[in-house]
Amino acid sequence: MQIEENKSLKDYNTFGIACSARYFVEITSIEELKEILANQNYTERFILGGGSNMLLTKDIDALVIHVNLKGIKIISETDTHVTLQAMAGENWHEFVQFCIQENYGGIENLSLIPGNVGTAPIQNIGAYGVELKDVFVSCNTVEIASTKEQEFTKKDCNFGYRNSIFKNEAKGKYIITSVTFQLTKTNHNLNTDYGAIQQNLSEKNIENPSISDISEAVIAIRQSKLPDPKKLGNSGSFFKNPIVGSEKFKQFKIDNPDAPYYQLSPSEYKIPAGWLIEQAGFKGKRYDDAGVHKNQALVLVNYGNASGNDIWQLALTIQQKVKDQFGIFIEPEVNVF
Ligand code: EPU
Repeated sequence: MQIEENKSLKDYNTFGIACSARYFVEITSIEELKEILANQNYTERFILGGGSNMLLTKDIDALVIHVNLKGIKIISETDTHVTLQAMAGENWHEFVQFCIQENYGGIENLSLIPGNVGTAPIQNIGAYGVELKDVFVSCNTVEIASTKEQEFTKKDCNFGYRNSIFKNEAKGKYIITSVTFQLTKTNHNLNTDYGAIQQNLSEKNIENPSISDISEAVIAIRQSKLPDPKKLGNSGSFFKNPIVGSEKFKQFKIDNPDAPYYQLSPSEYKIPAGWLIEQAGFKGKRYDDAGVHKNQALVLVNYGNASGNDIWQLALTIQQKVKDQFGIFIEPEVNVF
């Protein structure tokens, strides 16, 4: 285990922000993780997984622990289901691809989401009608303060829309080391409700899609709308879709009869932040190297040399304009440091 000093984090965050870490260590086993947490020379720590859901606005004056635990193993299986454990440092999309090759169903709609397995539960990643919580069994963690291992069941995690206990009470207290999933081996519960998936499958005349067909459809949809972080720095959706109550929604609908929305419950409506940002005039706009993606206004991008602050100032400007124009507050989805 080697501790590096003043290491650039540019290649460790998908926004490609050139902040640096005062100290940096990569851990490849749980023993190493416990050892470094017990080391009293480094009491300030910052946990880094795939770096796909964060915006760095300053250098990190702490020990950055890069969780690089690898491995996938079957815990148990029946004729119809498999319980599978993946270590936190496995790349999410590679894990999805592995499952599709093995014909394990349940996460095909979550293809091509950037990041690692270990960070997926923190924000309960979701796309095209499926959320991580739908296949999640439990996760193992190490508590930072005590270095003790602790398991969190699905119930413990308190999952919500882009939310979990790890963004609330447990924030900054635990390091997720592995995640256990339950997936199907037969009679896959396919989710093709999303309009763009249906359209993609019907264009290819696929009537009875396999999990691989769905994964390919999702990949095509994402590639057409969302920028590849390897080519253009970004962190996926920068904002959450806001949820408003009936009163507010009633007026919003009168003022904006063509706006898309999803009714979540008799008193809750989700309005796409991408639509609000587009209406506020920001889609495709570029301010030096910080910009709003041309195909999806929910995604902020770094054209090369934007600082974290450049992106953050743009986010605040967007937030204010949306508030002024619609009276709706849009909350960042990414973690801002
Ligand atoms: N829209 C616009 N303009 C835009 C973008 C969207 O008018 O620039 C409208 C669309 O026309 C559509 C609606 O907004 O009517 C919803 O758009 P879309 O289906 O593309 O999905 P989204 O609500 O923008 C969410 C997730 C994505 C996920 C997709 C598909 C959030 C914050 N984002 O986006 O997740 O891939 O649904 O399920 O919930 C991510 O979290 O990083 C992410 C990409």
